[in-house]
Amino acid sequence: MHSAQRTSDTGWWRNAVIYQVYPRSFADADGDGTGDLAGVRRHLPYLAELGVDALWFTPWYRSPQADGGYDVADYRAIDPAFGTLEDAEALIADALRLGIRTIVDIVPNHVSADHAWFREALAAPPGDPARDRFWFHDGKGPGGDTIPTNWSSSFGGDTWTRTTGPDGRPGQWYLHMFAPEQPDLNWNHPDVAAEHEAVLRFWYDRGVAGVRIDSASMLAKDPSLPEVGEAHPPGRHPHLDRDEVHDVYRRWRKIADSYDEPRLLVGEVWLEDTDRFVRYLRDDEMHMAFNFDFMSRPWDAEALAASIRSTFAAHAAVSAPPTWVLSNHDVTRPVTRYGREDTSFAFADKRFGTPTDLALGARRARAAALLTAALPGVLYVYQGDELGLPEVEDLPDGAREDPMHFRSGGVDPGRDGCRVPLPWTATGPTFGFSGEAAAAPWLPQPQDWGGHAAQTQESDPGSFLTLYRRAIRLRRAEPALRGDAFAWTETAPGALAFRRGEDVTCVVNFADAPADLPAHTEVLLASGPLEGGALPKDTAAWLRT
Ligand code: NOJ
Repeated sequence: MHSAQRTSDTGWWRNAVIYQVYPRSFADADGDGTGDLAGVRRHLPYLAELGVDALWFTPWYRSPQADGGYDVADYRAIDPAFGTLEDAEALIADALRLGIRTIVDIVPNHVSADHAWFREALAAPPGDPARDRFWFHDGKGPGGDTIPTNWSSSFGGDTWTRTTGPDGRPGQWYLHMFAPEQPDLNWNHPDVAAEHEAVLRFWYDRGVAGVRIDSASMLAKDPSLPEVGEAHPPGRHPHLDRDEVHDVYRRWRKIADSYDEPRLLVGEVWLEDTDRFVRYLRDDEMHMAFNFDFMSRPWDAEALAASIRSTFAAHAAVSAPPTWVLSNHDVTRPVTRYGREDTSFAFADKRFGTPTDLALGARRARAAALLTAALPGVLYVYQGDELGLPEVEDLPDGAREDPMHFRSGGVDPGRDGCRVPLPWTATGPTFGFSGEAAAAPWLPQPQDWGGHAAQTQESDPGSFLTLYRRAIRLRRAEPALRGDAFAWTETAPGALAFRRGEDVTCVVNFADAPADLPAHTEVLLASGPLEGGALPKDTAAWLRT
């Protein structure tokens, strides 16, 4: 069978479709209102039918969930809310039987404040070696009352929290580039490197095909703790993208390559400078990294074409494939974002009450799905985007959990709105997320959520789900879409068109006037109805040319 063959291919990932599972919100088998691994196992046939090659799980490890699991207390244990290690092993094996590989999330920049190392460090006095695995530091000024640096957190606010000694007196400070519950590790400490290498092997040995590396460019820090803003050459920023971070990934790559089927390293690398970005993709480092440049661009022909061009140009220097990402668990859902006046994405711009036209956004998100699925490289799909879910923007205040919301003083709506539990069925108290008689979902679902249910969409030829299924099937079936060949072709102003291989052309129209299609023998797939043979605004089509 096709799928069985794929599992023995090395290089399977170069044009893969990778589906991101946010386990907490995917499906809840035990009815406690939180998604779990048994829920994912139950829905594996759905994922196989969608046609994905791999699943990337956001962290499923034991965690107090101060940041949706990106605060890991124990890498070798599954969070009890999600299941057990045996469940994870069974899930990995079940998925593989369906030809679907598993990628797990590794969060090397920080651990949970509940991690054994941090507890030990907190209990130890200043100067104790147990503190050296983190960044404990005396404060400045009299009494050490002043924060050691003014580095700012991507979650807003300070990056140091002061400890309290056993006598109740204020003690040293510790560094956390995210929330205080996520102390940063000191990557100059040999234990930190050794432990992560052991964790990689732990999961690779359990059959996972790769790891997604969280905050990958942030691990290394300048131990002299200079302020940001002082002049520093590339690679010498106090805490971002420092040159020595690459040594970590070179060592990881050797481990990944030591397996019969080489394992993958996928980087979460947010860097504006593409030259610095592709350094992570050199042949002895990561296999690929998320293309956030493309994801953040507005719905605009020129802006997207420019990103596609610069992505290709940057990747030409390395053998890593480009990746195409429309969203993930951190960003506003495309259906909502593309319906706004400003269709670009930036964390700093997120505000309550930004108007959106969801019908418009849905049309564009469908066209964007065909655009990205037609590009050479790796396609990432965030759970629920294949159902056309909008961002849930009216969550009750008391339901929100995201530290980004709280640390912004309530100004940033946070990321809960893209993490609402999935609707599987049109009716029922949790729309099929949990079984009958279950606890309420951990985040409330909107009343009309059932209108997006997977079950209803399955039999609707015009649905988002059908579009995604057809696109992914064609991507696999059409040799032109499997290869790397790509060439821009002439098209109407305000539209984009490119040919893949010998015989497939993708056209996307962003302009008000319908675009004439190039000569073709067949419309393979379109994101919406054509108008008298022309391509309307905000529509994409794949043509046999
Ligand atoms: C990136 C993850 O995607 C995000 O969800 C998390 O909050 C931060 N890294 C910190 O781990």
